[in-house]
Amino acid sequence: MNLAKANVYVSENTVSDGEKPVFHVTPPVGWMNDPNGFSEYGGKIHLFYQFHPYGTQWGPMHWGHVTSKDMLNWKNEPIALAPDQEYDRDGCFSGTALETGGTHVLAYTGVVRGTGRNGTQVEFQNQCLAVGDGTTYEKKGLILRGEQLPDGFSRNDFRDPKIWEEDGVYYLIAGSRGEKGHGQILLFSGRELTKWSYESVLADSIGIGGGMWECPDFFPFGGKHMLICSPQEMRAQKYEFHNGYQSIYFLGEYDRERHEFKKGEPRSLDYGLDFYAAQTTALSDGRRVLIGWMKSWQNDFTPPDRKWNGMMTLPRELELKGDTLIQKPVRELERYRKNKVSYEREEISERKSLSGIRGRVIDLTVEITGGDFREFTIDVANNDAYTTSYTYDRVKRLLETDRTYSGLNCDVVCQRKMRVEEKEGRLKLRFVMDRDSVEMFVNNGEQVSSTVICTPQEADGIVFSCDGRAEVNITKYDIVF
Ligand code: FRU
Repeated sequence: MNLAKANVYVSENTVSDGEKPVFHVTPPVGWMNDPNGFSEYGGKIHLFYQFHPYGTQWGPMHWGHVTSKDMLNWKNEPIALAPDQEYDRDGCFSGTALETGGTHVLAYTGVVRGTGRNGTQVEFQNQCLAVGDGTTYEKKGLILRGEQLPDGFSRNDFRDPKIWEEDGVYYLIAGSRGEKGHGQILLFSGRELTKWSYESVLADSIGIGGGMWECPDFFPFGGKHMLICSPQEMRAQKYEFHNGYQSIYFLGEYDRERHEFKKGEPRSLDYGLDFYAAQTTALSDGRRVLIGWMKSWQNDFTPPDRKWNGMMTLPRELELKGDTLIQKPVRELERYRKNKVSYEREEISERKSLSGIRGRVIDLTVEITGGDFREFTIDVANNDAYTTSYTYDRVKRLLETDRTYSGLNCDVVCQRKMRVEEKEGRLKLRFVMDRDSVEMFVNNGEQVSSTVICTPQEADGIVFSCDGRAEVNITKYDIVF
């Protein structure tokens, strides 16, 4: 009933494509948060997402669903899950998808609210299953209940299952809170998807920070293991972890027999103003691809007249080079690059615009190769009224994103600084823009900064400025679908 109603609502209210980003996943109408169930099944890539169709703010969670062959052209599919059972009536929260025995299995958190002993509202979170054929899904009920948790672990915060299979055994990790209210990732194992035994605390926030650790992912990566999670309320350290709600990762060694993960230091997955709840999938061609929610829980500035709210990042290919995580836009993006314009050894002093270098749906690379300057600024989405600025301070080795003039009506947090390093005297910045967003990849993917903007599309200028003299190579493509 809820599902049919939601599907009818969406078909009658879908926002026209012309008003939306071109190749980023957005909801057809309404609110979107976390990516869910990112997976390959039946020859397509599937992405589900936290979805509230009826309003542009968070509400009872459904699972929206899109599919694609190339992770850039996405097709809306029927909504996969609606909150309509006794065990998930207040929301179908985040989770995972995998293929087993030819079916597409979804694991998610069923949320139920009730009144506690002293009259306060309490929430119970349990893990649930649904199976489907890539288009429609049938719920199979609860598979892992809060009652199965060791004493002292929270039942209100126990969510976002990620499941994988290894040598005939299934493993499930989920975010939770421990006795001291700290965040932790719990590991379970099972021979069947419906029967789970608790194994261990795979990682926790003690000494690192952040309350609840949400949306975990865990996988072998470049000879090590990588754990991704999204801590709430993480305290900033120097130039790291400034979003509060922050997606981080750890590289480490995993002892499979003891179910122990020896993790290294936490690191940021992204340095922009909008990035959270990232998850990955392993594609059949060998790539490990990550996608995140390009928004921040604490920084919502959607224009009031907009009927949709929220978008995903570009899917990114992950690779480990030595100890450095490399993230690059999926290579499929190159197929859609047209109208190349490039400048070699262009000298920038004061302010300069270059013929053919403009646009809001573009792939632009700026490589600063030398010169004599302290500050170099690239303004994108620029006109007389608006601009989104990226300023490199060569002395401090800091790169600042500034979207104070990117269409916001309120003066909320709009700046973010990241530490960057030149490589043999060069700094390379690749900007992928899609109408309402800028994703900047530094030095071939060593760092990424994702930020949403909401300026009118006529603000499509690009201006370079410098307090001395800089030499740059610039290449711009339009992205055309
Ligand atoms: C993360 C999160 C998840 C939860 C979902 C609810 O952004 O809080 O932990 O499953 O959003 O929409």
